Amino acid sequence: MKKKILVTGGAGYIGSHTVIALCEAGFEPIIADNYSNSEPWILDQLTKITKKKIKNYTVDCTDKDGLKKVFKEEQIYGVIHFAAYKAVGESVENPLKYYQNNIGSLNCVIELMNEYGVENLVFSSSCTVYGEADYLPVDEKHPIKKAESPYGYSKQVCETLISDCLNSNQLTRAITLRYFNPVGAHTSGLIGELPIGTPNNLVPFITQTAAGIRKYLTVFGNDYKTDDGTCIRDYIHVMDLANAHVKALNTMSETGKSITLNVGTGKGSSVLEAVQSFEKVNQLKLNYRIGPKRSGDIEQIYAATELAEKTLKWRTEYSIDDAMKDAWRWEKNLANK
Ligand code: UD1
Repeated sequence: MKKKILVTGGAGYIGSHTVIALCEAGFEPIIADNYSNSEPWILDQLTKITKKKIKNYTVDCTDKDGLKKVFKEEQIYGVIHFAAYKAVGESVENPLKYYQNNIGSLNCVIELMNEYGVENLVFSSSCTVYGEADYLPVDEKHPIKKAESPYGYSKQVCETLISDCLNSNQLTRAITLRYFNPVGAHTSGLIGELPIGTPNNLVPFITQTAAGIRKYLTVFGNDYKTDDGTCIRDYIHVMDLANAHVKALNTMSETGKSITLNVGTGKGSSVLEAVQSFEKVNQLKLNYRIGPKRSGDIEQIYAATELAEKTLKWRTEYSIDDAMKDAWRWEKNLANK
């Protein structure tokens, strides 16, 4: 029998790609989503890609009784917990929303895992926990810095919550993945990032500009102390990131161990390099302007990837060029929806 994996936020950006990776690896994903930042039609797209109907529950993960139904009805082997809010600016304006949802949902998930004897958790964290790194590439031993936003702090609290529950045996095992910058889309062009309103993140802003939805991209600052003056990030293809989750489940069942890992490519790219990559692979000119720095942005960060590669027996397979091609294919398909 296939192992059932509860994927909270499974209709979301990283969640939906992970559902595909789980199916391909022989797991049975079960989605729990409240569609607060995703669309139910993503489920139909998943069926087109996987040729399977993915079992799904419409539920808010902070609703313990609602979520309990899933644990009662399904024999769950592991949980991948994506369901969370992720807009940094919004978290500054409405911290209660972020603390309540991001911490509250993890709390419910762990309580129910404990109640129903579910042993394996994969948690979505972020490289935001490192803040402005003291050294690069940043490894997992790097100190956790004071969070720049309630969003960032909610991730730090969740990481602490997990380690406290592991210490007290209220949780059996967990792999926490600190994502760098997820970009791109599934190569089918059927699913991808679906920002609601004006995108905050770079790649959806680029693709919407190329599609004519936005007039131009503003590059936030070009006087940083980097080669071309723009910020540097570690852009990882969302399918590589999705595969890391599958490997994390495999690793937990093989070793029984808990660990926190960076999930990035190890390679930093500047904003202008990202723009150039998009232009090159899609044979397009992007309308962009240099604007002021965005407050709270860090100058540069990219991952030390050795620990994740060794622990998960995983490597990235896609480049930023692949991601830009896939992101554009998705944006064009979206226009015809
Ligand atoms: C942001 C969050 C990070 C979070 C992640 C979730 C901040 C400071 N960090 O990452 O905590 O985990 O989103 O998705 O908000 N850029 C432009 N013009 C744009 C948009 C972005 O120049 O219109 C630049 C930014 O200055 C940055 C890079 O592109 O250098 C990437 O930005 P973004 O996609 O927003 O990701 P992060 O800021 O790295």
